[in-house]
Amino acid sequence: MSLQLFLPYEERTLSLKNRMVMAPMTRCRAAEGDIPTPLMAEYYAQRATAGLIITEGIPVSNKARGYLWTPGIYTREQTDGWKQVTAAVHEKSCQIYAQIWHTGRVSHTSLQPNNEQPEGATDEAPGDAVCFATRMATRLTFQSVHLYHWKQKGLREYATSLYRPR
Ligand SMILES: Cc1cc2nc3c(=O)[nH]c(=O)nc-3n(C[C@H](O)[C@H](O)[C@H](O)COP(=O)(O)O)c2cc1C
Repeated sequence: MSLQLFLPYEERTLSLKNRMVMAPMTRCRAAEGDIPTPLMAEYYAQRATAGLIITEGIPVSNKARGYLWTPGIYTREQTDGWKQVTAAVHEKSCQIYAQIWHTGRVSHTSLQPNNEQPEGATDEAPGDAVCFATRMATRLTFQSVHLYHWKQKGLREYATSLYRPR
């Protein structure tokens, strides 16, 4: 049996050095302010022998958080942090997709601004946040965005259409 796993993979929008893909895994290693850290860049770089990495779930706003210490993508400090990650991964010729998420009702008042009730992921506001996060991901040179459990009608298509790889 030939080892296809190690062969490059070419598709219209995707070009991988091999066929190994790392699944998204929440690691809760962000710094205060949900900022990606140098340790995270090191962690992803260590796994960049894969052809493609899908990041841990990235909250699209401060209302989208469902866990502590998950790295966001909605402030300048956070996007600067992610730049270290994408640069470290690209350095090793690995592609990286941003998995953006809104945890909706899974969240808890203790994680919400002013301890308010969590918003459902089908509310209007998360849609705006997704669009913003998608634009940020594009600027950060992620190869694509992956929306986690989005049920809002048309949102997936809209966010995908916003995505313009550089
Ligand atoms: C610690 C941990 C964190 C995870 N975080 C995420 C996540 O952020 N997003 C996601 O879609 N899946 C997440 N998963 C699910 C994994 O990506 C994967 O789907 C799951 O482990 C099953 O993989 P398997 O079928 O290869 O065993 C997580 C899994 C683990 C163990």
